[in-house]
Amino acid sequence: METLECIRTRASVRSFRPEAVPEAVLGTILEAGTRAPSAGNTQDWVFIVVKEQEARKLLSEATTYGQAFVAAAPVVVVVCSDLGKIGKAYGQRGRDLYSIQDTAAAVQNMLLAAWDQGVGSCWVGAFDERRARECLGIPEGVRPVAILPLGYPAENPGRRGRLGLEEVCRQERY
Ligand SMILES: Cc1cc2nc3c(=O)[nH]c(=O)nc-3n(C[C@H](O)[C@H](O)[C@H](O)COP(=O)(O)O)c2cc1C
Repeated sequence: METLECIRTRASVRSFRPEAVPEAVLGTILEAGTRAPSAGNTQDWVFIVVKEQEARKLLSEATTYGQAFVAAAPVVVVVCSDLGKIGKAYGQRGRDLYSIQDTAAAVQNMLLAAWDQGVGSCWVGAFDERRARECLGIPEGVRPVAILPLGYPAENPGRRGRLGLEEVCRQERY
């Protein structure tokens, strides 16, 4: 798919068919994550690939309102930032801001790489970090930032509207 077409057509998918995502397809999605920019190329991200059903269920229970579609996806990637790594390079600004920006860039790359290959996903940010940590053995100092359920769509999600450029762009000054 052409890049702009992929960006324009992507939509969050919250209903998945049960069949597995082939390793090669998943590998391409993860690799796209690693191609994201990061502050000073620190690459402070860690991607935890979760396929075990029990762990997916626990993760879905760790989300706010128990978002069941997380458990229903055949594979879930939890995107984390290694705060020690980014903090060593950039101190407090690294821990507070670059950690989020770096992992967000990786997440968006993964969402697009998934969509390009016909795989649906949804950026899930509403979850209890402590419970996600416990469930996956994530140490203190590594922050889980996003949960990405991945699978072949069982729905046609439709595209959500966006504000027009006239509403979000300013010229020259705020
Ligand atoms: C930081 C962030 C957190 C989000 N958290 C959730 C979430 O917890 N659950 C959910 O269903 N969608 C979540 N979303 C997805 C948004 O609701 C979705 O991207 C938005 O409504 C636009 O729809 P679209 O992705 O289909 O264009 C999140 C998105 C972002 C960027």
